[in-house]
Amino acid sequence: MGGFCAATYKRGIDFINIPTTLLAMVDAAIGGKTGVDLGFFKNQVGVFAFPRAVIIDPAFLNTLPYDELKNGYAEIIKHALIADNSLWLTLQKDGFNQVSNLIEKSMVIKTEIVSKDPYEKDRRKLLNFGHTVGHALEMLSQEPTGRQLAHGEAVAEGIIAESYISVKMTGLPTAEADQIKHFIRRFFPVPTFYKSNFEAVYELMLNDKKNVNGALKMTLLKSIGKGIINISVSKKIIMECLKASLMP
Ligand SMILES: NC(=O)c1ccc[n+]([C@@H]2O[C@H](COP(=O)([O-])OP(=O)(O)OC[C@H]3O[C@@H](n4cnc5c(N)ncnc54)[C@H](O)[C@@H]3O)[C@@H](O)[C@H]2O)c1
Repeated sequence: MGGFCAATYKRGIDFINIPTTLLAMVDAAIGGKTGVDLGFFKNQVGVFAFPRAVIIDPAFLNTLPYDELKNGYAEIIKHALIADNSLWLTLQKDGFNQVSNLIEKSMVIKTEIVSKDPYEKDRRKLLNFGHTVGHALEMLSQEPTGRQLAHGEAVAEGIIAESYISVKMTGLPTAEADQIKHFIRRFFPVPTFYKSNFEAVYELMLNDKKNVNGALKMTLLKSIGKGIINISVSKKIIMECLKASLMP
């Protein structure tokens, strides 16, 4: 939000980012996407604006609550899944310990992707893995029927669902999807609010900016460590996978 203010104040002034959450260190502060939500919908008003510098000091994490650390951890998991099998193996081994040691590796993954495609014409779409379902769940959880999901919690659910969609669509082995789900459930228990709301989740997914003419295009996994972009997925597959993967 600070970047958005800087980018629009007097038609844009320079800014630097000094993230104080794990999520912002590994993700939000890097890459130039700035913006705000509009009513119910996420990131509806925004611009690409790149900071002059990003200054990261892991000491900020000493006071960050566990739930906020988990939000960042979800994005680290995503980075491993789309681009770095060795980071995934490190996560399996170390779990949530030594989280500050993961910052640099995760930042490098995002920076490398963004530097090749800053305006998301192509490869940058890899970073959307987990977010098509995730953003829909995050928006839906704002309804008064349940607890609001944090961004990282929603992304964690999105990663699980989109891994099972990857099994159907892009050949991710079922054993790898099961491994992803099992690992994420160590940190993110099943949220309760969306028990029977899959139709609403699908409708919100259609609202996602990545879709053209009502066709749902997703970023999925070919294998752990290898994402693939622009996969058209039918409603039938999505509904099946949401039910199979997200129900307790
Ligand atoms: N622009 C992008 O590319 C991008 C990427 C991922 C997520 N996001 C967005 O980022 C937002 C979340 O940002 P965030 O995770 O930085 O959260 P945040 O700025 O909302 O902070 C979360 C909470 O942690 C507290 N806090 C922050 N730093 C602290 C510290 N060092 N010690 C103790 N408490 C601290 C804050 O006061 C707040 O209560 C979401 O809306 C998400 O959609 C943007």
